[in-house]
This record gives sequence, structure tokens and C-alpha cells, in this order.
Amino acid sequence: DPARSSGPAAAGRLAKKLSGDGGWMFRSHLPDTPLTEELPEPGSGAVVRSGAGLAAVYRREDGGINSLSGACSHLYCGVTWNEAEKSWDCPCHGSRFNVEGEVLEGPAVKPLAKMKLDDGK
Ligand code: FES
Repeated sequence: DPARSSGPAAAGRLAKKLSGDGGWMFRSHLPDTPLTEELPEPGSGAVVRSGAGLAAVYRREDGGINSLSGACSHLYCGVTWNEAEKSWDCPCHGSRFNVEGEVLEGPAVKPLAKMKLDDGK
């Protein structure tokens, strides 16, 4: 059902999946855990599998995408989408990045790396 598999609902399910069993921190350390294959709605972000890694994908209002590494530039925990703040937040030490990958809050000092999406085909 495509209507149920993207956008805020998917983000909600993702958040639930991430926090559901208390395994959130543990999972964030696994570099290739498939979280979702879905691209987000315009104005929203999602972590998607890209090749062997994870990409933090933001879909702009113009429909284009900003695709960044899903690994925090500090010590490589997996970032998560913050819908309220429209930011990528790292659960490990609190670094935050904007949708361009620029640092909003440290300890990270480098932006999220740009990442080309790779669907493995
Ligand atoms: Fe992301 Fe340290 S690994 S803030």
C-alpha cells in the first residue's frame, strides 16, 4: 500500500522501530541495518539504505533530494531525522546537522558527507 509506506507515517514507524525495544543505540551502530527503502515526502527526511551503507535523505520542496551520509561526522553513529526541527540528530553525543549537512551543534565539527544514492542495481 503506497499510501502507507512513505512520509510522516513511515517516519513514525521508523521512530517506533528505532525505539521500540530499547535497542536504539545498539542498532544505530550497525552500519548497514536496512531501515527503510522509502524516499521521504517533500519537506521531510528519512534514513534509507544506499549500497552497503545508510543515507540521510532530505526531499526538498522542489522535489529534489539532498543525500548525505547517514553516519555522523563525529564518531559515525547513525543520525536520525528530527521532523520538528528539520534536522539530522545524532543520538550518541548530540551533534545536529541541517538538511544541507552543515553542523548546527557539536561536538561534530565537520558536515555530513555528501553521498550518492545507490540502489544496488
Ligand atoms: Fe555523533 Fe558523536 S557520534 S555526536
